[in-house]
Amino acid sequence: MADDLNFDVVIIGGGPGGYNAAIRAGQLGLKTAIVEMRGVLGGTCLNVGCMPSKALLHASELFEATTHEFASIGIEVPAPKLNLVQMMKAKQDSVTALTKGVEFLMKKNKVQYFVGRGTIAGAGKVTVSGNDGSTQTLTAKNIVIATGSEPTPLPGVDIDQKSVVDSTGALSLPAVPKSLVVVGAGIIGLELGSVWRRLGAQVTVVEFLDRITPGMDTEVATAFRKALEKQGIAFKLGTKVTSAKTGGKGVDLTLEPAAGGAQEKLNADVVLVAIGRRPFTKGLGLETVGVSTDARGFIPTSHFKTAAPGVWAIGDVITGPMLAHKAEEDAVACIELIAGKAGHVDYNLVPSVVYTAPEVAWVGQTEEQLKAAGVQYKTGKFPFTANSRAKINHETEGFVKFLADAKTDKVLGVHMMGPQVGEMIGEACVLMAFGGASEDVARTCHPHPTRSEAVRQAAMGVENWTMQA
Ligand code: FAD
Ligand code: NAI
Repeated sequence: MADDLNFDVVIIGGGPGGYNAAIRAGQLGLKTAIVEMRGVLGGTCLNVGCMPSKALLHASELFEATTHEFASIGIEVPAPKLNLVQMMKAKQDSVTALTKGVEFLMKKNKVQYFVGRGTIAGAGKVTVSGNDGSTQTLTAKNIVIATGSEPTPLPGVDIDQKSVVDSTGALSLPAVPKSLVVVGAGIIGLELGSVWRRLGAQVTVVEFLDRITPGMDTEVATAFRKALEKQGIAFKLGTKVTSAKTGGKGVDLTLEPAAGGAQEKLNADVVLVAIGRRPFTKGLGLETVGVSTDARGFIPTSHFKTAAPGVWAIGDVITGPMLAHKAEEDAVACIELIAGKAGHVDYNLVPSVVYTAPEVAWVGQTEEQLKAAGVQYKTGKFPFTANSRAKINHETEGFVKFLADAKTDKVLGVHMMGPQVGEMIGEACVLMAFGGASEDVARTCHPHPTRSEAVRQAAMGVENWTMQA
């Protein structure tokens, strides 16, 4: 075997898990290869996930502000005209620039990039079936599986990426549908539902549970649902879709109460199925090293080690939140363990953000989780209606909530809904990483006038001395 195909680490998958693992491995002087079959680096996140969705959220938010907000602050412009082709082109240009950036980072860190499908072919071997028809076998002291996830299908509903789409189709619709039914009130459904509502679609969200966004603190989720309803998104909670038929006049859906009962019909131009994602391990050759997946398809690991020596797994393909920054944390810890260092991830400190308007962001425990665990806690809350910067900017919807241990004041969870709270949750992450107390934030000077003052005022509320509300 040619010496240049022998590696310390071969990474299969070029998403946030894989490319961050490659960068860290390169930094630590490990001879590293990355194998990606998409033809482009960046994985789901850069190509059909985080980045294109944020591009459309940003553009559609500006479109809506032009229509509904400019006149009230004294900016009179003619009614804006949507150029969807240009909006999609701008999205794609940003994505291309980002994926090229990842390619540059591979070169910078001396990582060899193989374009093709990687298959494990026994201990220490990865076959690359190149997109150009070639086949190469790489040898590896360590194989890192970072093959990510794919949309979960809904039985009885076939995705054609035209009338019935998953998130990938919903990021590239050729025209604004008159009506859009979203199946699943999770993060994808609400972000992409928001995009198409702002651009003119009538959006109805059908959710199996009797609440939206499971995992989010219930008080915040309830306020969030009301905010979205005010914007015109309709919700059918406690409802399941049992079939979808595509015909001449869009898609006919049959709905049923989740608990069973009378059926209902609903018609839509386009249906977006967003009921979660599942790990992707197709064609990976796990069986050649004796690794099997669990009942939900995840690769079982302990500190990223699979059942096979020298085979590791990170990101969406293992359990934990399916988030790009979680995949990145896994990547760094896994590679540091491979390099003999002390890699570790605190999954309690992985923040979540929903990039709608208002945004929702949180880290740590919800009130429901603390109650279920029997933890005594105190709460501090502050509304954005009382925050000067939010008021000046006419963005007063939402609040910040601190949850702190009743005895020690250690912060256990921070939950926010409001303007750009996704940018503000990092403060809570750092605080909690240091085991900080609410008083640490309450007694730290924050700049005025900023929305971050709402975080401080909420922290003050834990000891009942909120000053500005
Ligand atoms: P992936 O990004 O899925 O990458 C895996 C890669 O492996 C893929 O490119 C695939 O082609 C490749 N691959 C698979 N098998 C093979 C093989 N055998 N050989 C070679 N290559 C292979 N997360 C956030 O944190 N913030 C967000 O705002 C956000 N928005 C999202 C919006 C949408 C619409 C979607 C769908 C997801 C979003 N996510 C977001 C989730 C995020 O994209 C994932 O958590 C993240 O991409 C997981 O990274 P990963 O590296 O584990 O897997
Ligand atoms: P999700 O898990 O967030 O939400 C799925 C929703 O669908 C849940 O509310 C669930 O109860 C509901 N559901 C399940 N089966 C159903 C059925 N048969 N009928 C009706 N409703 C049903 O999954 P989603 O939104 O598909 O996102 C997948 C992943 O992508 C998430 O886990 C998230 O981590 C990630 N993501 C993250 C983003 C961010 O960080 N901003 C943005 C988009 C996605």
